Amino acid sequence: MILVLGGSGLLGSAILKHLQQQRYPARVLTRGMGDWQSSNLPNLKAMGVEIVVGDMTNPDVLGKAINGCTGVIHAGGSMLQTSPEEMKKIHLDVVSELARLSELGGVQRFIQVSCLGSSQYSDCAMMRYKWEAEQVIKEAPFYWTIFRPSYFFDDTFPFLNILMPVLKLKPFIPVPGTGLSEIEPICVDDVANQIVQSLYNRNAVSKVYELGGPVTYTMLEFIDLVKHYMKIKTPIMHVPTESAGKSAKFFGKILKNMHTDLIGLMTVDSRCSEEELELPAPLSERTLEEALPRIIKKL
Ligand SMILES: NC(=O)c1ccc[n+]([C@@H]2O[C@H](COP(=O)([O-])OP(=O)(O)OC[C@H]3O[C@@H](n4cnc5c(N)ncnc54)[C@H](OP(=O)(O)O)[C@@H]3O)[C@@H](O)[C@H]2O)c1
Repeated sequence: MILVLGGSGLLGSAILKHLQQQRYPARVLTRGMGDWQSSNLPNLKAMGVEIVVGDMTNPDVLGKAINGCTGVIHAGGSMLQTSPEEMKKIHLDVVSELARLSELGGVQRFIQVSCLGSSQYSDCAMMRYKWEAEQVIKEAPFYWTIFRPSYFFDDTFPFLNILMPVLKLKPFIPVPGTGLSEIEPICVDDVANQIVQSLYNRNAVSKVYELGGPVTYTMLEFIDLVKHYMKIKTPIMHVPTESAGKSAKFFGKILKNMHTDLIGLMTVDSRCSEEELELPAPLSERTLEEALPRIIKKL
């Protein structure tokens, strides 16, 4: 039995689909928010996966979810709005507890979803927690694999959702720093396929895979692309970032509901390094631009 944390999310649902194609039995941990009809529970039930309802920040819930599983795929947590405390809890503390309970429970295979760009030196708090979580997993006794995808899309693109409040600003769109940080949006199905194909692949053990899509965009190019498809004419203005803190203060004034880590996410590089590592499966050539009209329609 494979436990999928985040099985109701964008990546997790794609992972479940691939697990089902391979006929691997799966269990999902979900908070199952809202009433039965509007929650994700009916969909998961219809897929025939086992469901444990609860919060992954609760060790008792995690223990229950892991019980009887030989593998864990951790695709839980979100890039979306959270408080700094919640961010640490979700991206680091949960991973430490999960590793501890997995070891206790005899889990043999563990796949951790991190982020391309995660680094101990990052200005972006989430990227620092993701990096720390990678270190926790690397020290664990089970067969681990870490995936570091760039921002992924399907018919939604969470990274764009985070940026939308900035893109709607007038009379200019503020871009922190040079806008030359790079992203490599990747189709979520590709990420899920890599993860599932690595599950019982001995070559994938103790590997850290970087996953990027076929096109690299600077932040400026990405914003221009979105402006083009959304017919936004507002000009861009560069906001100097002597320090992320100063810039965050500026953004904070103009964007009341801004994402906690907006500046960090807009200035961090999320692209693959030059190092070539053979991936568990081939990647498709699906580009963000092909999907963008669909994504924008759903905004
Ligand atoms: N989105 C991206 O572009 C991107 C890029 C690189 C890496 N990542 C990483 O990939 C992972 C998945 O991202 P995603 O975009 O697929 O996320 P998502 O669509 O926002 O879904 C988040 C998932 O995490 C679960 N979750 C969150 N908090 C939870 C809690 N306290 N207890 C139990 N479950 C909880 C949610 O389950 P319920 O709501 O059902 O409880 C949901 O299934 C994250 O670790 C993210 O950092 C994302």
